[in-house]
Amino acid sequence: MIELKNVSFNYENASIFENLSLFVAEGEKIGIVGESGCGKSTLLKLMAGLYVPSSGEIIVDGVRAPEEIIKKVSVVMQSPMLLPLSILENITMGHEYEDSKIEKIIESANLKKWIDSLPEGLDTYIGDSADELSGGQAQRIAIARAMFKDSKILLLDEPTSALDGENAASVLEAINHFTEGKTVIHVTHRKKHLEGYDRIFLMENGKLSEI
Ligand SMILES: Nc1ncnc2c1ncn2[C@@H]1O[C@H](COP(=O)(O)OP(=O)(O)OP(=O)(O)O)[C@@H](O)[C@H]1O
Ligand SMILES: [Mg+2]
Repeated sequence: MIELKNVSFNYENASIFENLSLFVAEGEKIGIVGESGCGKSTLLKLMAGLYVPSSGEIIVDGVRAPEEIIKKVSVVMQSPMLLPLSILENITMGHEYEDSKIEKIIESANLKKWIDSLPEGLDTYIGDSADELSGGQAQRIAIARAMFKDSKILLLDEPTSALDGENAASVLEAINHFTEGKTVIHVTHRKKHLEGYDRIFLMENGKLSEI
């Protein structure tokens, strides 16, 4: 469950939203489209607890504090945030894991072929070389991380934008399978990626209207 109550947000002097309200029920799949710069990523960051509203309230699964909200959601942001760690650690984020779960996830995120080609495989350190990863590799690691965390709520910001058509289609299929029964907010420029979603909103002038 995600609830936004009269949320306003501004970057310094620029107001992005004023009094935005939205209720997303548990298990609902919501798509958000809108022109570049309209505020879609900003909205997802607010829902992820990464930003704090200037006024109003955000409640995610019963919690209000940003540091608690972060724990409740899995996110794939538009620019993947990778850490100076191994590929494996970037996926597990230090949590315990079973090999079978990791195997399944790297298959779903289309990472297997690439990881198998690396001499150190999953233990490859990507810290200093994060710049040397392709946008698609970084994006697929971010997807694998979200799959590993396996929260009931997923926030996806253009999760396949850096992938070619074929890769995007198969990763999207894996995401759709993985998000079954979960609450999803999916921002995309490609409306066809939102087939089967419960509601699709257009973001425009700081407002959301259902389309
Ligand atoms: N950290 C920031 N500081 C100041 N302004 C920002 C910041 N991040 C974004 N903005 C501005 O806020 C507005 C909304 O940005 P946002 O990234 O949310 O748009 P978006 O809808 O996600 O765009 P896109 O489709 O291109 O990803 C834009 O005008 C942008 O320039
Ligand atoms: Mg964006």
